[in-house]
Amino acid sequence: MATMLEAPTLPKIRQTQCFIGGNWVPSASGKTFQTVNPATEEVIADVAEGDAADIDRAVTAAREAFENGPWSKMDARDRGRLMHKLSDLIEEDFHELAALESLDNGKPIRDAKAADLPLALDCLRYYAGYADKIHGQTIPIRGNNFCYTRREPVGVVGQIIPWNFPILMAAWKWGPALASGCTIVMKPAEQTPLTCLRLARLAQKAGIPDGVINVVPGYGPTAGAALVKHPGVDKIAFTGEHRTAQIIMKDASQTLKRLTFELGGKSPNIVFADSDLDAAAAGAHFGLYFNQGQCCTAGSRLFVEDKVYDKLVDKIAAMNTNRKIGDPQDPTTEQGPQIDQAQFDKIMHYVDLGQKEGAKMLTGGKRHGDRGFFIEPTLFAGVNDEMSIAKDEIFGPVLSVLRFKDADDIIKRANNTCFGLAAGIWTRDISKAHYLASKIRAGTVWINCYEVFDAAAPFGGFKMSGIGRELGEKGLDAYTENKTVIVSLG
Ligand code: NAI
Ligand code: MG
Repeated sequence: MATMLEAPTLPKIRQTQCFIGGNWVPSASGKTFQTVNPATEEVIADVAEGDAADIDRAVTAAREAFENGPWSKMDARDRGRLMHKLSDLIEEDFHELAALESLDNGKPIRDAKAADLPLALDCLRYYAGYADKIHGQTIPIRGNNFCYTRREPVGVVGQIIPWNFPILMAAWKWGPALASGCTIVMKPAEQTPLTCLRLARLAQKAGIPDGVINVVPGYGPTAGAALVKHPGVDKIAFTGEHRTAQIIMKDASQTLKRLTFELGGKSPNIVFADSDLDAAAAGAHFGLYFNQGQCCTAGSRLFVEDKVYDKLVDKIAAMNTNRKIGDPQDPTTEQGPQIDQAQFDKIMHYVDLGQKEGAKMLTGGKRHGDRGFFIEPTLFAGVNDEMSIAKDEIFGPVLSVLRFKDADDIIKRANNTCFGLAAGIWTRDISKAHYLASKIRAGTVWINCYEVFDAAAPFGGFKMSGIGRELGEKGLDAYTENKTVIVSLG
């Protein structure tokens, strides 16, 4: 592993400062923080540590760009062209960005190339196409009046993103914001600031006017909270933990900002005995272990019908045994490290708890190697609904397999959670599949597939998994205000 990690393919670190009003600047305090390679635990770079003063400068720049800058006067179609230009520049740097994402986040480079980058490009291009198609209605109302609506940008938006899909989360947030004509202050996750800063550089190169996109790296309770509380910010879009969202909701109450949240889950993935079992096993495996288990949608409660339970568990155990863990920059690596020590510790705590609560650990459960935050793919069978590993979001490579008898019993159990982000259903019976899809309280239901995302398909959570939707036409709602204009026709 050591030799692979030292391979000279690692990308150059070019941007480490705050990006405010088109300028690369140190933090007002002069402070920096370290971003670490999770595969080696070595420091990659010192990054400007933004705080309230930097957020304030960034909001001022974003406000100026929104109200007076060229962006505010630009034709919508030209905004779309700039977004296409940015997408083309990202595509030109595809390999470098994938390597940088893999370095800062620890994800296998083949995942960055197969998923993160293509999905981010699709998202930006999808919304680039929307820039000149966001329009209102004419509405017949009583009297001799003409009524129409306008959809106007909501204003300056604060965007706070997590570390699990840094480039993709930036694209999900920038796409609808730019298409609608908003301006942006983004705070990337403290674990993974590098690709977001690189994207800001590409946005500048694409000709997106100064102040339209600002990036302030820093920590959540300082820079993040300052963004949420700032009176000059009209909306916060947040992806991360539900507990953080609860703090943000409180902090935003003073200014009554618009809020959209994309939070976690404990998603049920349900395999019936009449399914294509090999496909179900592959889907269940991918649905949990993809991205080291660090997915909001992870199918972390795998419910398997009694008759095929042992067979399915065996198939997944075999896949775990053969999984290639190691250097994320190696193109054959399937699983990299967890993001940091805190996540590593949290996951190991649940591995302990699962064993203490009586689940049967069939694979994994240990650290892999002696440096980096690697955890072996871990599989628990014999899990029941009351165990902590069946209730809490673990956000790591730990799969809990539960047993069920019939379709009626499974609906209740699947919905027995405070979350409602996603669900999977594996069966050859289409009526059963659609019936279950209608009964499960979740924002996305996958039938005979899992983790299928598309820029055009709205995404978000029921219950404590979120508020609002991202992606698709729906994703524009939270970035626009509806204005009603009524004209007397005399
Ligand atoms: P987090 O929710 O604390 O962090 C996400 C983002 O929010 C980061 O940019 C962070 O700096 C920022 N943040 C933190 N506190 C803030 C505050 N008071 N005000 C404004 N912004 C704030 O998540 P964290 O601590 O990285 O991970 C904890 C757990 O959250 C994970 O174990 C996982 O269960 C869940 N999570 C869910 C994600 C998802 O995609 N839904 C992504 C990341 C974490
Ligand atoms: Mg946190």
